[in-house]
Amino acid sequence: MSSTSLAPGLLGIVGCGLMGRGIAQIAIQGGIPVILHDSRPGGAEEARAAIGATLQKLADKGKIGAQDVTAACARLSVAASLADLASCTTVIEAIVEKLDVKQELFRQLEAVVGDECILATNTSSLSVTAIAAACKAPGRVAGFHFFSPVPLMKIVEVIAGPLTDAHVADRLTAMARQMGHTPVRASDTPGFIVNHAGRGYLTESLRLLGESIAPHPELDRILREAAGFRMGPFELLDLTGLDVSQPVMESIYDQYYQEPRFRPSPIARQRLAAGLLGRKSRRGFYRYEDGQKQEPATVAIPPRVALPVWLSPRDAAAYPAVSQLLDKLDAKRDEGARPGTGSLCLVLPVGQDATSAAVAAQLDPTRTVALDPLFLGGRRTLMTTPLTADTYRDAAHALFASDGVPVSVIRDSAGLVCQRVIATIVNIGADIAQQGIATPEDIDKAVTLGLGYPKGPLALGDALGAATILRILDGLFDFYRDPRYRPSPWLKRRAMLGVSLLTPEN
Ligand code: NAI
Repeated sequence: MSSTSLAPGLLGIVGCGLMGRGIAQIAIQGGIPVILHDSRPGGAEEARAAIGATLQKLADKGKIGAQDVTAACARLSVAASLADLASCTTVIEAIVEKLDVKQELFRQLEAVVGDECILATNTSSLSVTAIAAACKAPGRVAGFHFFSPVPLMKIVEVIAGPLTDAHVADRLTAMARQMGHTPVRASDTPGFIVNHAGRGYLTESLRLLGESIAPHPELDRILREAAGFRMGPFELLDLTGLDVSQPVMESIYDQYYQEPRFRPSPIARQRLAAGLLGRKSRRGFYRYEDGQKQEPATVAIPPRVALPVWLSPRDAAAYPAVSQLLDKLDAKRDEGARPGTGSLCLVLPVGQDATSAAVAAQLDPTRTVALDPLFLGGRRTLMTTPLTADTYRDAAHALFASDGVPVSVIRDSAGLVCQRVIATIVNIGADIAQQGIATPEDIDKAVTLGLGYPKGPLALGDALGAATILRILDGLFDFYRDPRYRPSPWLKRRAMLGVSLLTPEN
C-alpha cells in the first residue's frame, strides 16, 4: 500500500450510534463527505436525521450559520448496503465493542473497498492489533479513538499497532485536524493514553477510602478544592457509572498482567453488585434527587483556642511558608527548640504519615497534627496520628480555618490525600512515557483534553518538582511495601538530573 495525498476522500462510518453520529457530525462540519452505514434497518437514516437536527439546533443558538447546516448536511449520505462504501478512502467503525464482530466487519470491508482505503476502529478497550489480525492487509488498520460526546471532547487518539503502515497514522492525524480535533499518537497498548493515565486518580482515591482516611465527600472536596480537579473522584465514578468504570478498571489491570499500579478496589466491585451505580441509579457514592447530588454536611469549625503552636523545623523546605501562614493567622507561637508542655506540635510531612513524622522527631503523638505543606491553597488538609487528642485536632482545625479557607481533617495517611493521588497520577504518566506509548507532550495533551485534569501528568509533576514526587513515592513505598508505589525509571532519572518530566529521550 503506497502513501497517497492527504486530502480526505469519502469517509465511511459504520455503526451510527452515539459515537458514529458524533464522528459523522464533526467530519461533515470539517468539510469531509461522509456515508453512513448501520446494520440495524433504518439506523443510518435515523442518524442522518438526528445529525441534521443537532446542526439545526446549533444554528438556532447562533453557534453556526444556516448556510453551514445546509453545506454540512449536503455532505452526508446513507448507504443502502455495505457495498456502497466501495469508493471510500477511509472507513471508521463505531459498532458494538466485540472483537469477533469487529473482525468480521473488517473482513467484509476489505472485500468491498479499494487497496488504498484505511480501516479505522473507534474501539476503546479492544486491541487494534487483534482487530487488524483478521485483515489480509493489516497495515491499513489503525485505531481512531474518539471520546464522548465527540463534538465537545476535542481529542482523538490515533493508535498504531505493530503492523500499521506509517502513512495510515499520518492520514488519520491530518483528518482529525480537519475535523477540528486535536490528534495524539499512541502505540497499541491497553487503555492507549487517556484510559491508561486515568487509572491513578480513581484507584488511589478508592484506596484512601478503603483505608478509612476520610469519608468520600471529604476526599472529593480535598481533590477538587486543594488540588484543582474539576470533579472529585467519587463524583466522577457516579457520573460514569460503576457498571462502566469497574469493568474498565478490571480490564486494564488484567491486560497489564495485574500491574499493582492499576489494582482495582473491592469497594467498587461490591457497590456495583449492590446496584449503587451512580447518577443513573439515583444512588451511588452520593444520593441524587431530581438529578441533583445531595451533598452531605461538612464538619462544623470548632471554636478557636489560644494554644501555642510549635512548628517542627525538620521539614525545612516547607517551614518558611507555613511559618508565615501561622503569623498571618495570628497563631500563638512556641519558639522553643523542643515543644513546651501543652503546645500543639505541627509537622509538615511529604510522603510521610503523621505517626512516622511524630516518632522521627520524638514528639508527643497525642499533641501532633500534620498539615499538608504542598497544598495550602483552596482547602487545607490536616491529619492526625491514631493518638491525637480531640483538643489538639480541634485547635488546629479552628486555627487553619480562621481566614476562611476550608479545612479537612483526615486520618493518618502517608502523603495525606493530594500528595498521594497526584504522585500516583504523575508516576503512571511518567511510565507511559517510559514505555514509549506516546510522546511526553502528547501524554499531557491527551490527559488535559480527555480527562479535564488541571494539567497533564508530567506538568503536574513538574509543578511540584520531580524530586518531590519521587520523595512522596519513596515514602509511600517504604510505608506500604507495595510495588504499586515503585517509581517509574522515567521519573527517577529526571528527578536525579533535575530536569522537567517533559524532557524526552535524546
Ligand atoms: P452504540 O450502541 O450507541 O452504537 C453502536 C451502533 O452500531 C448501533 O447503531 C448498532 O446498530 C450498530 N452496529 C452494531 N453492530 C453492527 C455491525 N456489525 N455492523 C454495522 N452496524 C452495527 O455504541 P457507541 O457508544 O456509539 O459505541 C460504538 C463504539 O465506540 C464501541 O466500539 C465503543 O467501545 C466505542 N467507544 C464508545 C464510547 C462511548 O462513550 N460510548 C467512547 C469511545 C469509544
